[in-house]
Amino acid sequence: MFEALEALSPDPILGLMAAYREDPRENKIDLGVGVYRDEAGNTPIMKSVSAAEQRRFEAETTKAYIGPPGTPEFNVVARQLMFGPAHAVLQDKRVAGVQTPGGCGALRVGAELIKRARPETTVWVSNPTWANHVPLLGNAGLAIREYAYYDKTTRSLDADGMLAALGEVPRGDIVLLHGCCHNPSGVDLKTEHWHAVAELANRQGFTPFIDLAYQGLGDGLEEDAEGVRIMADACPELIVASSYSKNFGLYRERVGALQIVSPDTRQTGIVQSQLGSVVRGIYSMPPAHGAAIVEIIRNDEALNAAWVEELTGMRERINGLRDLLARRLGERTGQDFGFIREQRGMFSFLGISAEQVAQLRDEYAIYMVDSSRINVAGVNGANIDHFVDSMGRVLGA
Ligand code: LMR
Repeated sequence: MFEALEALSPDPILGLMAAYREDPRENKIDLGVGVYRDEAGNTPIMKSVSAAEQRRFEAETTKAYIGPPGTPEFNVVARQLMFGPAHAVLQDKRVAGVQTPGGCGALRVGAELIKRARPETTVWVSNPTWANHVPLLGNAGLAIREYAYYDKTTRSLDADGMLAALGEVPRGDIVLLHGCCHNPSGVDLKTEHWHAVAELANRQGFTPFIDLAYQGLGDGLEEDAEGVRIMADACPELIVASSYSKNFGLYRERVGALQIVSPDTRQTGIVQSQLGSVVRGIYSMPPAHGAAIVEIIRNDEALNAAWVEELTGMRERINGLRDLLARRLGERTGQDFGFIREQRGMFSFLGISAEQVAQLRDEYAIYMVDSSRINVAGVNGANIDHFVDSMGRVLGA
């Protein structure tokens, strides 16, 4: 049966984890996979999460199935975090949603539902986008095309190119957008861009699909949801995938949500039933533990305040590192790295070649994705000198 298959090379992001682990050099630095790291280089369990787990352990009375949509309580929490409790789409009961195994599960369930509704749909993704968007959406059988997004020369948004490309997207297609903390570029849409994209969505008749995987790690919990809320105000139909891997540090528990805004409650009911059926046909129902932790934290005033404080600390550390890197890299190399300060979330491109990325890995034990995407949170007081100096050497400065 499987003789016809060929071995594949490792995943471009996950493969780095293994290569880094096996590297015996003591001064090695991991700027690869997008997990938050503290000043000591660890990815600790958040204290609010540990406290909620303790409560869950004491209060849990059953391991019976939770059903394809996940728990109603979690879905309410997810919705409120995304849109804000007072948003019209919630008041009007126009949001269908399911708890999913991570943000990846949400993206894939979304893709399968689109495929059911309109198999000939093309999904337009930003150039560049997160490498795993393509298999997650494309393997459902949807065609993928790119729209202009990142300007390599200015290291910022190619707003004209993006709006021109989206102005040509045919009716019925999907446009995938990053809600905040664009992965891999760190370049986000500003308020005026969200309004402009919403206008184009309505004019062209495409449906926006927003991936919000880093809510709270850019400018704040509410600020990072601004794009989603603008689109939900303006567009009759909207798809949103969210992840709780990063903002709750629940990476391995696989917690996410897919939410779909429809024009009316009748359509919402139909979408909800279809979502349940898509889930049942893939993995039957989501895991319960991580979602229960999110629900416990969000529904408890003190735990929620503690979580917000921890999340704020993470965000401030990342943004502080952005400042530090922009300054130190500029000083050491004589080049302008100020763009790192302007960008948001875990990632930025250094803008060096694949050969220079390989040189950093081979000669200096510094790991990053071939595109020169770095995880800013991988930098700390103990490794920044080695990183900045190695960059200087590779750039011949
Ligand atoms: C990343 O982009 O590094 C993260 O989202 C982890 C992953 O699964 O790729």
